[in-house]
Amino acid sequence: MFLAIAGTVADKRSLWSVRASEERYRNLIHHLPCALLQVDSQPMRPIFDELRRQGVTDIARLLEAEPERVQQSRDAVLVTDANNNAVRLFGADRIDRLIGSVDYVFAASPETARRVITAHFDGVRTHREIMKIRRFDGVLRDVELTVTYPTPPERLDITLLTLDDITDRLRTEAQLRELQAEYSRAARISTLGELATSIAHEVNQPLSAIVTNAETSLRWLSREDPNLVKVGQLTTRIADSARHASDIVQRIRGMAAPRAPERLLLDLNGIVEEALLFVRHEIESRAIDLSLRFGRDLPRLFGDRVQLQQVIVNLLLNAVQAIGQGDGTAASIEIRTRIDAGGRVAFAIHDSGPGIAAENIERVFGSFFTTKPDGMGIGLAVCQSIIVAHGGTISASNHPDGGAVFRFVLPAAGTAGS
Ligand SMILES: Nc1ncnc2c1ncn2[C@@H]1O[C@H](COP(=O)(O)OP(=O)(O)OP(=O)(O)O)[C@@H](O)[C@H]1O
Ligand SMILES: [Mg+2]
Repeated sequence: MFLAIAGTVADKRSLWSVRASEERYRNLIHHLPCALLQVDSQPMRPIFDELRRQGVTDIARLLEAEPERVQQSRDAVLVTDANNNAVRLFGADRIDRLIGSVDYVFAASPETARRVITAHFDGVRTHREIMKIRRFDGVLRDVELTVTYPTPPERLDITLLTLDDITDRLRTEAQLRELQAEYSRAARISTLGELATSIAHEVNQPLSAIVTNAETSLRWLSREDPNLVKVGQLTTRIADSARHASDIVQRIRGMAAPRAPERLLLDLNGIVEEALLFVRHEIESRAIDLSLRFGRDLPRLFGDRVQLQQVIVNLLLNAVQAIGQGDGTAASIEIRTRIDAGGRVAFAIHDSGPGIAAENIERVFGSFFTTKPDGMGIGLAVCQSIIVAHGGTISASNHPDGGAVFRFVLPAAGTAGS
């Protein structure tokens, strides 16, 4: 008797504790910071069994060919519970609105439904992707969907859908990218201003050649017996010079024009060579010895050509300016590209200037940090924002033999982070 009573008490207690833990679980689920839908995917089981019996292995192809199968699943699979955040995310007034066929989740991203079914069929544990949902008021939101499938041989077939609203994050990221593009363009225009003398000199060279060759042609033509062969050669040279001048103008326009950042497959050595075209005159006119050590067979990288040129132009200009502050003996700049131990593409520039004061090493990449009387202090800040946006890192140090060294590394195309 006593035992029986004791047994009843124990049963009651365990029932209470089960209830209490279920309550805690429900509380937890309902107040989770992300939207959660509990889905009963049991209706998929006989469908999958039948497909397997028919020997289907590539369900993705089947669903692509027969999209009505996707719709049938969207209708058959049911949402059985939802938390408060899910109600808020879909703009529903009550939880009941979310209970029923899972169809509404995929209303704005039908392709996602296909992939979710495929992952389930393939026995994947979790599937994650970014998709759009249409709220009940018709507004579209960007969400990150995570589907957690039941582990076989679970009987209940409870699948959990987590929806994380990332609309604001995506919007902020897009605004940041725009701002960064604007910022780097402003910096490019300011750099072009600094390079005005060099640019004038560059453009002047082909223009002078055109004038000289045109005058010589006229002289050949005004002879009694005009030498047309000679005139032909000179005219070819004039055309070449005009093309050269037009290339220079094109390059400058590329640096100054407002443009959306691009991601193309690029070769770092080529970018260095192009960047040098902007600064060549600065280097030559100061009799700076430039040494280039290009790594061979560098992997290519994904990036924006103009922005990466801008990084190298900024670093080169800083090097030229640093050398101008030194005693002028043995002025040199060494540029090196290579593939580093981690398979990344690495760039380093070492100048023969006075180096960076120890107390400034940590600050040189900060916006508006400058030690130059007419500096703005944005060159390196822009370099850093561009390199970081490309998934890389940039650093400054002093060389043991004197002078500053700036290095950056970028992920090679096709590796994580690129
Ligand atoms: N190669 C270098 N050698 C020594 N110091 C350098 C070198 N490059 C940069 N610095 C230091 O870092 C500071 C910041 O460089 P940054 O390019 O950001 O701005 P800036 O060159 O002063 O002005 P600007 O906005 O015109 O580029 C410089 O003022 C200088 O003190
Ligand atoms: Mg600078």
